[in-house]
Amino acid sequence: MAMENLKQFLFALSAAGAVGFVAIIFVLRWVLHFKEGLDWDGGLAEFNWHPVLVVTGFIFLQGTAIIVYRLPWTWQCSKLMMKFIHAGLNLTAFIFAIIAMVAVFDFHNSAKIPNMYSLHSWLGLMAVILYGLQLVLGVGLYLIPVTPVSWRAACMPIHVYSGLFLFTSIIAVALMGITEKLIFGLTNPKYKDSPPEAIFVNVLGLLLVVFGALILWIATRASWKRPSDQIAHSLHTNRGGEDNSKAGPAMSELEDGASCETDGDVRKRNSK
Ligand code: HEM
Ligand code: HEM
Repeated sequence: MAMENLKQFLFALSAAGAVGFVAIIFVLRWVLHFKEGLDWDGGLAEFNWHPVLVVTGFIFLQGTAIIVYRLPWTWQCSKLMMKFIHAGLNLTAFIFAIIAMVAVFDFHNSAKIPNMYSLHSWLGLMAVILYGLQLVLGVGLYLIPVTPVSWRAACMPIHVYSGLFLFTSIIAVALMGITEKLIFGLTNPKYKDSPPEAIFVNVLGLLLVVFGALILWIATRASWKRPSDQIAHSLHTNRGGEDNSKAGPAMSELEDGASCETDGDVRKRNSK
């Protein structure tokens, strides 16, 4: 399972893992040390589940789900198994996001704060709904075995584009939420006086941007794709083989049934 520029890949992957991990530590320290902690009591401690669950689930787990096909040590495993892992991680991220929404709506209702008045809440709810749609369409197209391969192939560029667009938008929504919370939450001293909490949470925002940038970099390198997809791509561009006109990146859908392959098999496919 040779990968081009393996060192760069490992560097980008460990940087993403480290930055994501530190972001989770930061959001936990924010709510546990600077804020009211975590509880389910209709108060501010319940609100705090909102940032914690979106950072750990909606951002970190989703980022992991997006790059899971790129891990070279999984290339000898069946595509079907990798699809279950990709779908499972995305489903877990979605469940985290739903609980995060329940926490903030429940807090608003018990504190008699109006719902859905901010741009953050509009874009945030839209992102959650579209993410749910992406999940359902993903299962329908790529997990249910009856979907024709030509449909899978035709929809793959849209799936990848909307997945990356959602991931990026969700990070933008989180940055808006962070800024709102700092403006609402810091009264004495205020946000503009740069108290330690403000600096600390600004750094959390930076970490989320860097995490997003690294995941997008990994997910957009053509040479780091699973080998089967590179073959499909080169057949497609060379016009070699039959009926490649619609194959594109989803040609590997055909190999669903294959179980774990040896390194040799992958290399043989690669050299074809
Ligand atoms: C409120 C979504 C991240 C802070 C809301 C609401 C939604 C939402 C739908 C409206 C709740 C209501 O009207 O009752 C999201 C999504 C996020 C996200 C999808 C994923 C990235 C964050 C983060 C923070 C945050 C990281 C940082 C603390 C807030 C605050 C409110 C809020 C302060 C209440 C004020 C308002 O409605 O704008 N969020 N949020 N959000 N969120 Fe987020
Ligand atoms: C690929 C996002 C759900 C099947 C991708 C990629 C992204 C993405 C960004 C490109 C990854 C790459 O180029 O390496 C998402 C998001 C989802 C979701 C955000 C949930 C909201 C699903 C589900 C399935 C699925 C439920 C069903 C199995 C696939 C397949 C690929 C893919 C087969 C192609 C992998 C490859 O190129 O080898 N997805 N996805 N996705 N996704 Fe999803």
